[in-house]
Amino acid sequence: MQRTLCVAPMMGCTDRHCRFLFRQLSPNALLYSEMLTSSALIHGDTDRLLEHAGDEPAVLQLGGSNPGELARAAKLVEQAGYQEVNLNCGCPSDRVQQGGIGACLMGEPALVAECFRAMSEAVSIPVTIKSRIGIDDQDNYEFFRDFVLHIHDAGCRHFQVHARKAVLSGLSPKENREIPPLRYDYVRQIQQEFPDTEFVLNGGIATIEQVSELLQEFPGVMLGRAPYSNPYLLAELETHIFKTELVDRYVALSHYRSYMVEQEAKGVHIKHMAKHLLGLFTGLPGARAFRRHLSTHMFQEDATVSVIDDAVAFIRPLSEVS
Ligand SMILES: Cc1cc2nc3c(=O)[nH]c(=O)nc-3n(C[C@H](O)[C@H](O)[C@H](O)COP(=O)(O)O)c2cc1C
Repeated sequence: MQRTLCVAPMMGCTDRHCRFLFRQLSPNALLYSEMLTSSALIHGDTDRLLEHAGDEPAVLQLGGSNPGELARAAKLVEQAGYQEVNLNCGCPSDRVQQGGIGACLMGEPALVAECFRAMSEAVSIPVTIKSRIGIDDQDNYEFFRDFVLHIHDAGCRHFQVHARKAVLSGLSPKENREIPPLRYDYVRQIQQEFPDTEFVLNGGIATIEQVSELLQEFPGVMLGRAPYSNPYLLAELETHIFKTELVDRYVALSHYRSYMVEQEAKGVHIKHMAKHLLGLFTGLPGARAFRRHLSTHMFQEDATVSVIDDAVAFIRPLSEVS
């Protein structure tokens, strides 16, 4: 499977609707879901939680630390048609820490290795690990290397690394994505030390130029906030990396509009789908009015897909402006 261009897992953002939209913009990007805990998946409404269509290749990210439960959850993920299952070892939120999952697992490499083994024995799709480079004052390269080594020994050959440490107390999740400095050098070094393994670089990547440069050194890049705030960046990256024809913004939107109509008929409220479009026209004249119209009207109880049509009327193609 191709991991050259990945879209990061983001709670509240990369749900199945968002991934459908992103797929219209980039046929080749690997799309990661929001994190789902293994226990929610096993004890909750499994079918609804795993429902997805038209987003493949897609990865479901699990949160958990119980090997048996993660193995059962991974099996469900495979059965639901995802192409990869990922274990979250990077989220520092308080709630996640209280559950003993996410970034605090970096302090328990033997347990992560056990979880990895249990998951990979349960499924035939790849099992991958998303981590930080360290936690709190355990932020030297040797700590990171030891974490990777344990999981590599268990057979893992695919990591996604958010290249900054997580501070487990005192910083909010948002601050934990901004304040600890980016250390691409750790990921560069680990990639050199483990040439049989793919380390996809994540953190602070936002432009085509950056992606071009980083792909000279890393097998793949993972972007989160940049494509979510400006989804058309994905279409531009797709063309740049895979040499495919640039997808037209309006064509992508019209596919997504048809999808919204279908989903609305199944009872999904427009706001859950329209929110992912807020940044679609970033950089074009009228983008702010588009955004304002959408964010004002999509929350109305009786909103229909026509809020999209009305919002698009504010966009003026660049050719008309100059
Ligand atoms: C709103 C939001 C939610 C996130 N949720 C998750 C998550 O569920 N699982 C995860 O591993 N990382 C999560 N992250 C972290 C991203 O996957 C990514 O590692 C981080 O944003 C750095 O990449 P970026 O600089 O390209 O945004 C989240 C980030 C944001 C902004």
